[in-house]
Amino acid sequence: MPVQIIVGAQWGDEGKGKIVDHLSENVDIVARYQGGANAGHTVIIGSNQYVLHLIPSGIFHPNVICIIGNGVVVDPIALMDEIQQLQKLNIDIRGRLLISHNAHLIMPYHKLLDSMREQGSEKIGTTGRGIGPAYNDKFLRTGIRIVDLLDRSVFVKKLKRNIEEKNQLLKKIYGTNELDVDKIVDEYEAFDKKIDEYVTDTALYLNTAIANGKRILAEGAQGALLDVDHGTYPFVTSSNPTSGGACTGLGIPPTAITSVLGVVKAYSTRVGNGPFPTELVGEAGKLLREIGGEYGATTGRPRRCGWFDAVSVRYSAMINGIQNIAITKLDVLDVFDQIKICTGYQFDDKILKTFPTDVRSLESIVPMYETFEGWKSTTSNITSFSALPKNAQRYINAIAALTSTRVHLVSVGGRRDQTIFVD
Ligand code: IMP
Ligand code: MG
Repeated sequence: MPVQIIVGAQWGDEGKGKIVDHLSENVDIVARYQGGANAGHTVIIGSNQYVLHLIPSGIFHPNVICIIGNGVVVDPIALMDEIQQLQKLNIDIRGRLLISHNAHLIMPYHKLLDSMREQGSEKIGTTGRGIGPAYNDKFLRTGIRIVDLLDRSVFVKKLKRNIEEKNQLLKKIYGTNELDVDKIVDEYEAFDKKIDEYVTDTALYLNTAIANGKRILAEGAQGALLDVDHGTYPFVTSSNPTSGGACTGLGIPPTAITSVLGVVKAYSTRVGNGPFPTELVGEAGKLLREIGGEYGATTGRPRRCGWFDAVSVRYSAMINGIQNIAITKLDVLDVFDQIKICTGYQFDDKILKTFPTDVRSLESIVPMYETFEGWKSTTSNITSFSALPKNAQRYINAIAALTSTRVHLVSVGGRRDQTIFVD
């Protein structure tokens, strides 16, 4: 196993943090390849809960090296916060956290522009972390990278040019105050001194590690259906959470990838706007939200909840090359009399078995369901597949069959020991 990729196969919040933490026990390196502090990866150890936004979820294993790859957009404030929090917990990150010199920086104007854009009528429901505007600058080739911090004159020149342009936008289009270049330069200089020790050529590091047979986990953030190319555009994030993003976001070749594990929740959730075919707006949706604690780990927003959608996950498995899945939060379904899985979409007089990614089709389809009897008993203390109630086994097997994947593990609670490995 040189490189295994862990991807979210739905709209994010599948529980990747827990799965990555758990699988980190047997790896040497965990690397984030895209997204930024829009992610919220929750790890529960004993009675403590930690939420990571930028630092890979392998950080709680003292022998694991954690990498923030070139594909990530790094918010210095969020990063320093996270580093400090880990230090407070006496987690030694010296020499264990490496940040790509090619990663782009999130600047204050990115966050400002993100929130300004969201005040218009074409709201995406972003996390407000400046993600879209930062990737926008990256692809416009005006972005500022971590490596630019090393040369003060280059940094100041680039920053001045950007701020002049953004100030026009802020003033003329959004009618807000302009930004002060000197203040931002000072802030980022202070940051530079603090992160210097972590910055390196992570692509070189990873490729050397691959050549030496090290075991690497690539940790995706968000989910495949939020992918800017393959998701429900424009209601997506501005990066490639799909497995293909791991190669470009880390600088490793496709030939180094040995497997892709998809993480799926036993039901569906989505935060922010955009199509969600199996959304439950009534009592069942509320129940899922309350039992599942479905509130954003980054923004605290209530998540929209609904039944498992096999059509979209099958699509996700195809795009990502998912062979194995981890099913999380099965225990949330313990109280339901009946549980549904969406097996097809009715579209006019046709039945779609494939996922249409265009928003207009998705908004007019009617989901078709198969109903399963609930198991009505507690699963959170069960440790083997065969000990699960028969109806729960049936439900899990149906998910595997309908998505053409194998179930590698089932999670029945937030703790590490609440994990059932399936043979
Ligand atoms: P952005 O990534 O902040 O630009 O937000 C774009 C869309 O992706 C919004 O619908 C967000 O709610 C969603 N999103 C971004 N990051 C996450 C995540 O980590 N989990 C779930 N949804 C996310
Ligand atoms: Mg999350």
